[in-house]
Amino acid sequence: MRDVAVIGVGMNKWGELWDMSIRDIFTEAALKAIDDSGVDHIDAMYIGCMSSGLFVGQEHLGSLMADYLGQGNIPASRVESACCSGGLAFRSAYMDVASGMNDIVLAGGVEKMTDVGGDGATYALATAADGEYEVYNGATFPGLYALMARAHMERYGTTRKQLAEVAVKNHDNGSKNPLAQFPFKTTVDGVINAVMVADPLTLMDCSPITDGAAAVILCPADMIGKYKNHPAVKIIGSGHATDSIALHSRDDFTSLKATEIAGKKALQMAGKKLSDINLCEVHDCFTIAEIVVTESLGFFEPGQGGPAAEAGDTRIDGKIPINTSGGLKSKGHPVGATGIAQIYEVVSQLRGESGERQIKNAKVGMAQNMGGSGGSTLVHILEVI
Ligand code: COA
Repeated sequence: MRDVAVIGVGMNKWGELWDMSIRDIFTEAALKAIDDSGVDHIDAMYIGCMSSGLFVGQEHLGSLMADYLGQGNIPASRVESACCSGGLAFRSAYMDVASGMNDIVLAGGVEKMTDVGGDGATYALATAADGEYEVYNGATFPGLYALMARAHMERYGTTRKQLAEVAVKNHDNGSKNPLAQFPFKTTVDGVINAVMVADPLTLMDCSPITDGAAAVILCPADMIGKYKNHPAVKIIGSGHATDSIALHSRDDFTSLKATEIAGKKALQMAGKKLSDINLCEVHDCFTIAEIVVTESLGFFEPGQGGPAAEAGDTRIDGKIPINTSGGLKSKGHPVGATGIAQIYEVVSQLRGESGERQIKNAKVGMAQNMGGSGGSTLVHILEVI
């Protein structure tokens, strides 16, 4: 396998983008990444998108986006793995370059979710849960994560306040991110007293419905000298794992097995220990998700994710900064784009380009992106060289 570097990143301002179509949204981010890298063409493209058919009535995105981007005729594929479609697009692009098949590959992600109403968005998202057992019986993602939260509270004593601390921290970070959908700050009381969505999760424990895209450009590490003179960021670890989609089929739903496995695989491939990681973007689709993911990756012992959030260990100046971008909670969650936006944040931090939210001495960063209630997970590790 060849060593692979990320040489360009691009992302647009996320939110309700009424005046842009899905192709406009994707192309804006892709052109920014192309511009950031300095490449004059791309050889292949992978686009993470969960459900453009249900959200905007458009499938066949690979060809559509290649054509709209002015790169018609290149091999271009749409990649789907629910909310980790972006992470999977990144891994597909990585394997494409590493294998020697193509040199300059764009990995992107896009979703336009706000053209349908709340019911339509909930229906489209729920297609990533177990249709015959969970969805048939009325479960939605806020409901499934509420079950996980209740189980975690019961087993470990995780408190309502600890869940709220995750949202407070992510909105603090998001307030420093000009591309975030909800860059406002909040408080523990503001989270707890927001309208209830699925007990114990309120509106402020949930990631929002978002339109947005992100894109990155990959090339063989020995070719980076040909392009723009950014600090070189190499992909050093990639882990991918799956689990039962349905919560009831798992041995335990206070931890996430696919995240545990993917995290270990990525670390092993990178030849790193968790203590080498300087920052991590995780999939906080709900506040409880960030707590369980940080435990499942091994940053904290089971049951210690909540106390760690409360103690400030995951803040920008904490022991392990988590979601410096604002996470899905504040930055937004256009599901197919999220995994690529996590890579955007890690690369920006490793290059020292994160402005007000820049962490000190960022050398190695991790991104964890998961689908549904954890039925699929991608973990990537990147290092600045
Ligand atoms: N955080 C903070 N504020 C939010 C928000 C969020 N997650 N979602 C919406 N808002 C705000 C809106 O800006 C709006 O504010 P305004 O009245 O000042 O304009 C208000 O809350 C109502 O917005 P609306 O779009 O009507 O909310 P909704 O009730 O239709 O949807 C949720 C709220 C939480 C149900 C919806 O965002 C949701 O389903 N989130 C989870 C998404 C999901 O499951 N993703 C996949 C994860 S696996």
